[in-house]
Amino acid sequence: MSEFAKPRGTADILPEQAAEWRAIEDAARQLFETYHYREIRTPIFEHTEVFQRGVGDTTDIVQKEMYTFLDRGERSLTLRPEGTAGVVRAFVEEKLYGEMNTQKFYYLGPMFRYEKPQAGRYRQFHQYGVEVIGSSDPRVDAEVIGLGDHLLRQMGVKSFSLLLNSVGCPVCRARHREQLLAYLQPVRSELCKDCQSRFDKNPLRILDCKIDRDHPVVASAPKITDALCEDCARQFSQVQTYLDEMGISYEIDKTMVRGLDYYTQTAFEFVEGSIGAVSTILAGGRYNGLIQMLGGPDLPGIGFAGGVERLILARAAHGATQVGQDRVDVFVLALGEIATKPAARLLHELRSVGIKADSDYSGRKVKAQLKVADRLGARYVVLLGEDEVAAGQVAVRNLATREQVTIEQSELVSYLSEQVSLRF
Ligand code: HAM
Repeated sequence: MSEFAKPRGTADILPEQAAEWRAIEDAARQLFETYHYREIRTPIFEHTEVFQRGVGDTTDIVQKEMYTFLDRGERSLTLRPEGTAGVVRAFVEEKLYGEMNTQKFYYLGPMFRYEKPQAGRYRQFHQYGVEVIGSSDPRVDAEVIGLGDHLLRQMGVKSFSLLLNSVGCPVCRARHREQLLAYLQPVRSELCKDCQSRFDKNPLRILDCKIDRDHPVVASAPKITDALCEDCARQFSQVQTYLDEMGISYEIDKTMVRGLDYYTQTAFEFVEGSIGAVSTILAGGRYNGLIQMLGGPDLPGIGFAGGVERLILARAAHGATQVGQDRVDVFVLALGEIATKPAARLLHELRSVGIKADSDYSGRKVKAQLKVADRLGARYVVLLGEDEVAAGQVAVRNLATREQVTIEQSELVSYLSEQVSLRF
């Protein structure tokens, strides 16, 4: 092993894989723009308080998973563990609320969480996500969920489950909290260490705890979904009506509460069972108090984020690995020392007009070079030997038809421009 290794939980995206990454990113961008969402890019690090307040002090993310450091000016900064808090911080700071009633954003980029790495869980991972700020209309909930569903299908994930719940608002939450605490008090000492501390701070999360959710008392504890206030119950039922109307299937999962504190009302997760233990590929929900909590006006919001790495695992599980092949249009093959100069010029000329071209710089025999051309998926090979150089010509071979023509070097660019464009 090399002396220098990448940090645990990070990955090098090698050129082969980068083609798939880029295809996914391009397709996601295009889809978001079709729904008229606009791109926003926020810093990769923020003041730590943005996440403490935004994501919530009691969450695992803030308590255990943040990459937090002091900069040289002794300010506490944190690498973003997720995208929502930063987008809302920017929305408030840049006063974007003046512009339009409802603002729709999307983003793509790296996020950082100090988690235990395993397949589908990394310390640097990449999310694509959307945030809609300014509307509490249940049609927006359905649009955002529908967009998640559309994206996964378009990316080749043919089957998955959509889990839906409502985690209510501060009014119904407070009422439910009392019921829950009274109910769980007798078994408090039997809960895991994390849940014992969640007991006072955020008891709702006990229902979702991987360790305690199978405890018989926890499993039959009162659910927030059954304790919703009138407004939240109406919202929840309307979201379902719109999803039904749009033909999007879902299952109600009353124990799903999500791991971030900002959620209110609608919460959802898209789960793909065949990619292993870490199976949530896209998740989100409403966060009606977050904008105000980060110093902005009292506006509602909703969004989702999905992990690119988990999407790639899910695509592979569904046999979707073929994306835009990484191939060149033209391979320039120089035979012998004498051909290298005109070959370098022609290669440069082809690239200057946007023709994707490459060459082999090793001076190997024709056969070996043709193999390289083949491996690069070249459609045309431009051959330059002693005779061609002397005559100011080139031979152009179409690798698919095996046809070969000899033309003047000065005609090469226009000849290949035409041939290459014919294919599309
Ligand atoms: P989240 O559930 O924490 O939500 O993450 C969303 C998605 O990011 C997950 O479903 C998963 O696909 C991916 N993900 C999370 N952690 C990791 C990891 N350690 N390694 C690989 N992939 C991971 C949020 O982040 C919210 N900001 C979503 C949201 C947007 N809610 C409203 N708006």
